[in-house]
This record gives sequence, C-alpha cells and structure tokens, in this order.
Amino acid sequence: MRILVVGSGGREHAIAYKIKQSKLCSSLYCLPGNGGTAKIAKNIDIKTDDIKRIVKFSKKENIDLVVVGPENPLALGIVDELEKAGINAFGPKKNAAIIEASKTFTKSFLKKHSIPTAEYETFYDFDSAKKYIESKGVPIVVKADGLAAGKGVTVAKTEEEATKALEDIFIKKRFGEAGNMAVIEEFLEGEEASFLAFSDGENILPMIAAQDHKPIYNNDEGPNTGGMGAYAPTPIIDKEIQQYITENIMKKTILGMEAEGRAYKGVLYAGLMIKNKKPYVLEFNCRFGDPETQAILPLLESDIVEVMLATVEGNLDGYSLKWKNEYAISVVLASGGYPLNYEKDKTITGLYEVEKLEDIIVFHAGTKMNGNGNIVTNGGRVLNVVGLDKDFKKAQKKAYDAIKLINFDKMYYRTDIGNKVYKYL
Ligand code: AMP
Ligand code: GLY
Repeated sequence: MRILVVGSGGREHAIAYKIKQSKLCSSLYCLPGNGGTAKIAKNIDIKTDDIKRIVKFSKKENIDLVVVGPENPLALGIVDELEKAGINAFGPKKNAAIIEASKTFTKSFLKKHSIPTAEYETFYDFDSAKKYIESKGVPIVVKADGLAAGKGVTVAKTEEEATKALEDIFIKKRFGEAGNMAVIEEFLEGEEASFLAFSDGENILPMIAAQDHKPIYNNDEGPNTGGMGAYAPTPIIDKEIQQYITENIMKKTILGMEAEGRAYKGVLYAGLMIKNKKPYVLEFNCRFGDPETQAILPLLESDIVEVMLATVEGNLDGYSLKWKNEYAISVVLASGGYPLNYEKDKTITGLYEVEKLEDIIVFHAGTKMNGNGNIVTNGGRVLNVVGLDKDFKKAQKKAYDAIKLINFDKMYYRTDIGNKVYKYL
C-alpha cells in the first residue's frame, strides 16, 4: 500500500516509524515531515492545512491510505474531502473532529450523556464571565472555545489571572474566532493521564495509557507547552480504572457521537484527571497525542496499518492489540526559550551515535536537513529521545544517558520525566 502521513511533529515520525514496519506498506510519504521522517519516507513540501493540494497529491500518487496527525486539518474537514475523492483516510470527519475543535460542544455533550467532567458554564461576553468568576472564586479554569494550539486554557490561581485570561479571549481576541465563546470550569485536583483508543464509529479498541508532562520546568512548574515528555504504560490507570474509562467514557462517547449523526472514526484521545481513583474528562482530542504517541507506539507489537484499515472499514469488533511487556519513556529536547521565543537552525550533534544504541529510539520533531546535509533545529520541540526497558528505572536511565550524547546550542529538557511513576510502582 502507498501511505501518506500528514504532519511534521514527533508524533508523525512515530506514526511513520510504525507504519514503515508493516508488511502492508510499500511506499511511505510524509507531508511536510521533518529531518527524521526524511530517512524513512519521502517528504512532500505541502502545508498540512492546504487540503486541496493534499487531495490532488494523493490522487496523483495513487495513495491508498492517508493518516492525519494534527487537529487543524481534521477540524477543517480533510477526511471529508479525501473520502469525496475516493481516498481512504484515517481520522474523524469534520463533524466528529468538533469534539476537540469546540470545548462548548464537548462540555454540553458530556453533560447530556452523563460522562464525568468538571462543572462548568459557557459564556459569550466578558462581563458575565467576570461576574461568574467573582461568584465562584479561585482556583478556576478558563478555556477559549476553539483550537488554540494548547494555549487557550488558563488554570487561574488568582482572580487577576482569571480576568487576564478573559481579557485575552474576549477583548484582545488573542485566539480569534476560537474566542467567541469561553468555558469556565471547576478546578479539579488529581493526577492527569492520557487515554487513547482506536474507534471505528461503533467499537473501541483502547491503547495502553500514558502520562504527559505539559509544563516547561521540572516539578510541573512554569507555563504549559505542547508536552515535554511522556511515558507508557502508566500505572495510574490500573485494570479497574481502565475498564471504567473504556465503558463509561470512551464507549459512551462513541455511541453518543453516533446517535448525534457524528460517527467517530480514528483515534479518540481523552485527557483525564484521576481524582480519588475516579476519572473525569478534561478534554478530548480528535487524534493521537504528542508526545504520548512517541511512548505508546514503540510498545505496539500489532501491525498498525492493519488496525488503521480495520478502523477505517468499521471492522474493529473482536480485534485486540498486542503490546510489548516493557515501559517506554520519551524525553523532549527543546530549543531554549520555548514555549516563547527561540532560535532555529542550530546544528544538532550526536544523533548518529545515539541511533546506534540498543533500546533507544529518536523521534524528530522540529528538525530539518540543511543544504550541507546536517540536521539542524527547526522548531520549539526538537527531538524526542525514547528509552525502552522492562524495568521503568532502567528505561528512564537509558533515555537520559542517550541524551548526554546529543547537543545543540541552547538545548533544554526536563530532567524529571517519569518521576511521578515512582509513587505507584
Ligand atoms: P485542556 O486543553 O482542556 O486539557 O487543558 C490543558 C491543561 O489544563 C490540562 O492538561 C490540565 O493540566 C489543565 N486543566 C484543564 N482543565 C482543568 C480542570 N478542570 N482542573 C484542573 N486542571 C485543568
Ligand atoms: N499531549 C497533549 C496533546 O497531544 O494535545
């Protein structure tokens, strides 16, 4: 099969890496891809939201399956357009991708279907939202309605912070149309986990659960980023909680979406807060998580192309996934200054040495090959270094030992990825 992966992050490199292992894959393309995907696929220089050109390219190259990584093209309806052109695409259609693209939709959906989530109200203007915050007090969570590249959520510890978040949304219009509405919700305390599952519209096939590390600094301090590292499987989700999530969150969601005429095919990602062993939905994403995927997919033994085809064709019933009995821990190496301003085009050294190590995989994110054939930095999150082992501590040590061999100017990473696990092991 001729397969195209849309996206350019660590997530897409991990998806491409796994697809490349499938006996069903004959040719692999990444659009636009990065310095890492260039080694296993042909990179195509088209933007991920240029749907017309992506459809045209897929037709011309006789692509059999398009796998969409990021949320933007999904929310814009890339799957609808590819299907209209007769091309198989992995991911939800526009009317199902709304589960990530609109927080007000999702909160009212969760309430309607009695799926556990934080109490909330929806607001359309600054004044009434501010009054609500004054009546509720802090801590409180303010969320812009639409897609905001992970920057639309403020967990406010003071009324000033909450007011500033409202100003950003309603007055400064920092999120454009994504800020026509806002959700204000109860602050939930607990441990976060990411639960991803394949869904064919009716059936759910859960993956192993992972834990992301969103804030930029150690001990979860500083501003949120796209994610600074992840590990899987996480013992926070034990068998009992997994069963509960599968039945009472994932299945209920898929059946609810189907009943509303929004059949959901692809990966459904639930961002959860586990409070006293009970999971609450913080958000849904309509795609694989980044950086969770970099920790999850190296542990998958099943053929991912088979699973993706079964998902697209509605054949997941009776399907089961095989996993390696190991841990994977993935640490993000970022450009100094990220998530704010950072420089690009820094030469990365040590990759060749690290790629030779056993039980280590390096997934590229913001990298590219420059004119001299060197890999240079090209984004905020640059590399994901993944260590694998049956023993969690050893997996963590392998990742951090490998990182010592890699360098680029102003490289920054958290040194505590995975430490939260020790209280559960
Ligand atoms: P979201 O994009 O909605 O998942 O929010 C981004 C991050 O904000 C989450 O990963 C949590 O760390 C935090 N967050 C969101 N909603 C809540 C909540 N109700 N209580 C506490 N933290 C939250
Ligand atoms: N890791 C968070 C996300 O993919 O949105």
